[in-house]
Amino acid sequence: MNPTAAPWAIDVTGLTKRYAGRPVVDSISIQLQAGRICGFLGPNGSGKTTTIRMLCGLLTPDAGEGRCLGLDMRREAAAIKRQVGYMTQKFGLYDDLSIRQNLDFVARLFELPQRRARVDEALERLGLATRQHQLAGALSGGWKQRLALAACLLHQPRLLLLDEPTAGVDPKARREFWEQIRHLANEGITVLVSTHYMDEAERCDELVYIAYGHVLAQGTAAEIVATAGATDLEDAFVRLVGQAQDNYA
Ligand SMILES: Nc1ncnc2c1ncn2[C@@H]1O[C@H](COP(=O)(O)OP(=O)(O)OP(=O)(O)O)[C@@H](O)[C@H]1O
Ligand SMILES: [Mg+2]
Repeated sequence: MNPTAAPWAIDVTGLTKRYAGRPVVDSISIQLQAGRICGFLGPNGSGKTTTIRMLCGLLTPDAGEGRCLGLDMRREAAAIKRQVGYMTQKFGLYDDLSIRQNLDFVARLFELPQRRARVDEALERLGLATRQHQLAGALSGGWKQRLALAACLLHQPRLLLLDEPTAGVDPKARREFWEQIRHLANEGITVLVSTHYMDEAERCDELVYIAYGHVLAQGTAAEIVATAGATDLEDAFVRLVGQAQDNYA
């Protein structure tokens, strides 16, 4: 690697996870430089969530090795967890707690010092301060996702793994969410974000397409479109998944 380039935030090879003997992630390799936004695309059931959960140390791979944030995936999973913000596909906070109470709860879980200041900062940063006493359960989809992002930023992670963070969110809220993601990347945070929205894929610095647990293509949007002989990202997606069906289904 060019010594002046940013270090790898993610550098894993051969990542594999089997359920009942069936590989749902099959020897996936991903390299992502620090400070980049990588879109993670693939059909339903292609293995995105499973991959993300292995990267953040929540699932132990059956095979594969590598590093996240320079730490060994297998031996240093606990240290990785402390530096990764993972936003789950399904809203994981408490509907019957307010925005502030939810953030305070997460800050306690992480045993963060200066908890009140950290929560205030997160409320401010995500524009949640004026709503801080609203119950999470009463929020619209867009505000819920913003709260979830605030919660996974509280411990100041260096790598964000966002699993379909904007599913079911309206276009304006999605745009605002992506403005936040870009701000975070500009501060040097690395982002891997799964999505089914092609307009979001366009906003990424690079993309990884997977299907049937295999990486189909990796690169910038322009590279992927050119390599697939496609007209745009959606066309590339359809073509690549069609080829994967022939190869792996
Ligand atoms: N705990 C589990 N036990 C058995 N099979 C599982 C388990 N978790 C996931 N799978 C299977 O692994 C495959 C990949 O699932 P995964 O959730 O990683 O896909 P995904 O790409 O995130 O899909 P989506 O776009 O729908 O979120 C699916 O066939 C799923 O049914
Ligand atoms: Mg998923």
